[in-house]
Amino acid sequence: MPSILSKRLLIISNRLPAVIAQGRETWSVKPGTGGLVTALAPVMRENHGVWIGWPGCGDDAPLGSLLHEFEQQQGYRLVSVPLAEQEVERYYRGFSNSAVWPLFHDLLGNCHFELSHWQAYDAVNRKFAAVIDEQARSEDFIWVHDYQLMLVGSHLRAMGRSDRLAFFLHIPFPSPDLFRRLPWKNQLIQGLLAYDQIGFQTLRDRRNFVQTAAMLMPELEIVSRQRHHTLLRLGERVIKVGHYPISIDFVEFDDFARSREVEDAAWYLHENLRGRQLMLGIDRLDYTKGIPERFLAFERALEKYPALMRRISLLQVVIPSRTLVPDYANLKELLDQLAGRINARFGQPEWVPIHYVFRCLERVQLLARYRTSEIALVTPLRDGMNLVAKEYCASSVENNGVLILSEFAGAADQLGKHALLVNPYDTDGTADAIYRAFTMDPEERRQRMAQLRSEIRRNDVHRWLRRFVEAGDDEDDDG
Ligand code: G6P
Repeated sequence: MPSILSKRLLIISNRLPAVIAQGRETWSVKPGTGGLVTALAPVMRENHGVWIGWPGCGDDAPLGSLLHEFEQQQGYRLVSVPLAEQEVERYYRGFSNSAVWPLFHDLLGNCHFELSHWQAYDAVNRKFAAVIDEQARSEDFIWVHDYQLMLVGSHLRAMGRSDRLAFFLHIPFPSPDLFRRLPWKNQLIQGLLAYDQIGFQTLRDRRNFVQTAAMLMPELEIVSRQRHHTLLRLGERVIKVGHYPISIDFVEFDDFARSREVEDAAWYLHENLRGRQLMLGIDRLDYTKGIPERFLAFERALEKYPALMRRISLLQVVIPSRTLVPDYANLKELLDQLAGRINARFGQPEWVPIHYVFRCLERVQLLARYRTSEIALVTPLRDGMNLVAKEYCASSVENNGVLILSEFAGAADQLGKHALLVNPYDTDGTADAIYRAFTMDPEERRQRMAQLRSEIRRNDVHRWLRRFVEAGDDEDDDG
C-alpha cells in the first residue's frame, strides 16, 4: 500500500503514547492501546516519526533508557516534556481539566477559572513549543493534538516558525455562548487561529468554532464553506477548518473478539449469567459520561418494568482517571453510594442488579465483555466521539448486541440511525430504551448491528487518518 504521507510525522500530545510501569525489580515500557496510537504507529515507523509529550511518570523512572527501549521496539522516537508537580497541578489538573474540559463539555457548573492555572497553561504550552522548535525540520508534518495544547501553535509563531501547523481537537467545541464565559476567550481563539489546519470531530463542533471565531475576531473573513471544510482568512493567512470523526481499527477488534482466548473468557462469563441479559457500561471515571444518570435510569427501568427483575444485570466498569481532581473524587463517592442503594433496594438472593467495578480491565476481559453483553449503555452527557460505542459494535461478532447511545456523543452522527438514541437527562426515556433493547427480537438486533458494524468497518481509524492528512497535504483543495 502506498504511504499516505511522504513527510516525517511530528506528533505532539499531552501524554506520550507509552505506558511506563514499575515492576518489582525493573521498569517496563509498552505502547499505549488507544486508537490514535494504533493508527499512527505504522506511519510513524515508516517515516521515522517523532512523538513529543509528557511521560506522566515520576522522576524516579529511568526515562532515557525506557524511551530508547521504546524506539528500538516500535521504530519511532519519543521525546519527553517533563513537567514539575506544580505544572501538573495548574496546567493539567487545573486549567486543562477543571476549566477547558467541563466548559467544552457544556458543564459550566463544573468549571473553575483561575488566573494562575491559565498562566501555567500558557507557560506549559510554550514549553511544548520550545521542544517542537528544537525537533522540527522544515517539511515535517507537524500535528498537535487536543485541548491541553491549544496555544502551542501561537507560541511557535512567536518563536518565528512559519511551518504548516495542524491541530485536532478530540473533545467537543462548545457553542459561542458558552465559550464566551471563559475569561481568556480571546487569547484562546487567537491561539487556535495560529494553526493552518484545524480538525474537529463533528460538523456541529466545526460550526461552533467558526461562529465563535467570527464573533470574537471581526477581522476574520469566512472565504468559503464546503461540505468538508470551511476556509477562513486572517490577514495573509488561510486556515482550513474541517471535521473528521475519529474511529477505531475495526479489523483489529473484530479479529481479536473472535480469538480463542476471548471466546473462552466470554463463554465463562455467560455460564455465570444463568440466562440473564448483560448490559454493559465502560467508561473512564468522568462526570461527562453520565454514569449516575445511567444508574438512575436503570433504577427507573426496574420500577417501571418488573419483567426485568432477575432477568438483566448492569455491569458498569469504571476506569480510574484524574482522581486528584476534586470533581472526579466526588463522582467516585456518588457512584459507590448509588450502586449500593439500588442494589439494596432491588437485589435478591442470587441476583445483583448493578455490578460496579472500579479498575482497569485486561484487553481479553474487555473484549469478552463486549462480546457477551446483549446491550451496551453508552450514555454520556456530552462526548467528543466515544470510542466505546464503536469498540462494542466491532466486537459484537455474534451480531446480537443492541447499542443504546446518547444523542450527545459525537458517535451519534454515524451510529444514530441504527442504535437506540437517548437523551441521558431523560430518565424515563432511557428506562424505556433499556426495556426496548431487552425485548428486541433477534432479527431486529441482527439487522441493526450488521448496519452499525458495516458503518464502522468503512469509516475506520485508518480512513480518519488519511482524510486528515490528505486535507492538510493538498493546500489547494477546499472541497
Ligand atoms: C480524553 C482526552 C485525551 C486524554 C484522555 C485520558 O480522551 O481527549 O486527551 O488523554 O481523555 O485522560 P488523561 O487526563 O488521563 O490523559
